[in-house]
Amino acid sequence: MIIGTRRGMSVAVAERMLRGGPDWDSGITILRDQYKASIMRMRSYDRGMDTKLVFADASELATPLLAIFAVDAAAGKKDDARPILLTSSSKLANTVARVLGPNEFKAGLGETALIHLAGGVAAEGLKAERLLIVGLGKAKDLSLDRIRKGAGTAVRAAKVRMVHDLTIEFPVAVAEVTLAELAPRMSARAMVEGAELAEPNWDTYRSERKDTAVRSLTLISAETDEAVQQDMRTGFGEGLITAAAQNFTRSLVNEPGNVLTPTKLGARARAMCVESGLSCEVYSTEKIRDLKMEAFWAVAKGSAQAPALIVITYEPAGGSVEGAPVLGLVGKGITFDSGGISLKPGDGMEKMKYDMAGAAAMIGAMYAIARLKPRVKVISVVCAAENMPDGGAVKPGDVVTAMSGTTIEIVNTDAEGRLVLADGLHYAKTLGATHLIDAATLTGACVVALGTLNAGLFSNDDEACAKFIQSLKTSGESFWRLPCTDEYRERITSEIADIINTGKNRWGGAISAAMFLKEFAGETPWIHLDIAGCAWNEEKKPWLPYGPSGVAVRSILEWVRSYSA
Ligand code: BES
Ligand code: MN
Ligand code: ZN
Repeated sequence: MIIGTRRGMSVAVAERMLRGGPDWDSGITILRDQYKASIMRMRSYDRGMDTKLVFADASELATPLLAIFAVDAAAGKKDDARPILLTSSSKLANTVARVLGPNEFKAGLGETALIHLAGGVAAEGLKAERLLIVGLGKAKDLSLDRIRKGAGTAVRAAKVRMVHDLTIEFPVAVAEVTLAELAPRMSARAMVEGAELAEPNWDTYRSERKDTAVRSLTLISAETDEAVQQDMRTGFGEGLITAAAQNFTRSLVNEPGNVLTPTKLGARARAMCVESGLSCEVYSTEKIRDLKMEAFWAVAKGSAQAPALIVITYEPAGGSVEGAPVLGLVGKGITFDSGGISLKPGDGMEKMKYDMAGAAAMIGAMYAIARLKPRVKVISVVCAAENMPDGGAVKPGDVVTAMSGTTIEIVNTDAEGRLVLADGLHYAKTLGATHLIDAATLTGACVVALGTLNAGLFSNDDEACAKFIQSLKTSGESFWRLPCTDEYRERITSEIADIINTGKNRWGGAISAAMFLKEFAGETPWIHLDIAGCAWNEEKKPWLPYGPSGVAVRSILEWVRSYSA
């Protein structure tokens, strides 16, 4: 095929044709020796950055743009902002003090100020061409997550200025700001994560894309203690992996439904597994029928696209010990949700391409698990299908028997996520899972309840749930626990079959959905994450672009690691 003969066809279009659509996943390669070299590089992402960790004096480094952090040390609400720089270099601090007037910069979270050091400014021999001061907000609110956001803000600020080469200095304790709560390993992780997550713009399908890529990122620290340096290297390596995993998830979620069909999701999961040394089976219609997954099939059968049942297995080195936990990660993978015969209204229906974000989160988590190698067996089950209306589609009133034997009266074909997860959860148990976690863009009701700042968290087991909530401290993600106690069971009773696939009425819709899933978790400790409101960022932030968020990947990963023997 000759590309480019058609008049006016852009290079981007030609490239896309050659590649048969963007193939983000194939670009993810993690380079080895992560914990060895003092300077580490990793190409974590197809257009991604070359990211290094160096231990040196920031004022001595020649760089187009040096970002340093600041906090606001003002005591009371009414006091004027009092920005304090968290830098190791008094040269840097003096320069900023000299050129930045009062009230020009308040160090609010996500606020930035740019200072040119070339030319007239007496820059005390600073080697950076420009300084970027990045606000982290109030000193008393400083946290790992603020550092994550600060690093992201620096990257996004570089991108809008088309600066392709950036250095960020680690925050340094000063007289009034101790940083005592921030372990060096965790700070290093948060820095890389924030930076790597801020880099991609989800404009894959635009023909004319500006090259705003930050190609080279240096994280610089004046730390001299060998042991602390080692901790930081460990955190740095972990952060590269978690961010690459989350970006992989986002790249899947970003794809439109016509590109990422269930079959294609299976193919991408498989390609990732081959690269990662994970075992992976991708099944379709026949296996789903063989396993008697009638609930899953009820959703899939109204579409011209074949469903995919994706099973990924991670075995820890040396095999798993008899009686040790086996974690089951189950994901809702509806590659497009039209609602089926209970068709959704047209307004906003295009968003339903991200109805596979739960599945993508699990696949991303497996990517990182393969590299972080926790000592616990993990099985991921992803149920991927397209929810469509046609002559063969499931109808309201139909009754199906799930793989578990439970009969379901399907009263609304738009409540399809719980149907595929019913069989996914049960199947994960038959594969040996002793603890279950699922992630799903399950209900609009959850978005009504919690908005977009917290995702829903449900569990039938306080111990597993406590571990998850503990994981949030590391991941920086926000989940809010909602009830699913047995008092709510009557919400899903059916006059016709064992259960119905919606609640009796609209009230507590996210809980009704959780009660439905709980039925299939049974006695097995189980966590359910309803990420409907958090899987897609409608609003951009100084540290994040518009588009897929990759929510839940980091938290699931920490939860899995908490079971490592
Ligand atoms: N995929 C939707 C839920 C959703 C809504 C995800 C908004 C992301 C953003 C789910 O399949 C669905 O349609 N749920 C219904 C359930 C109802 C029919 C009981 C809902 O929430 O309206
Ligand atoms: Mn639906
Ligand atoms: Zn759905």
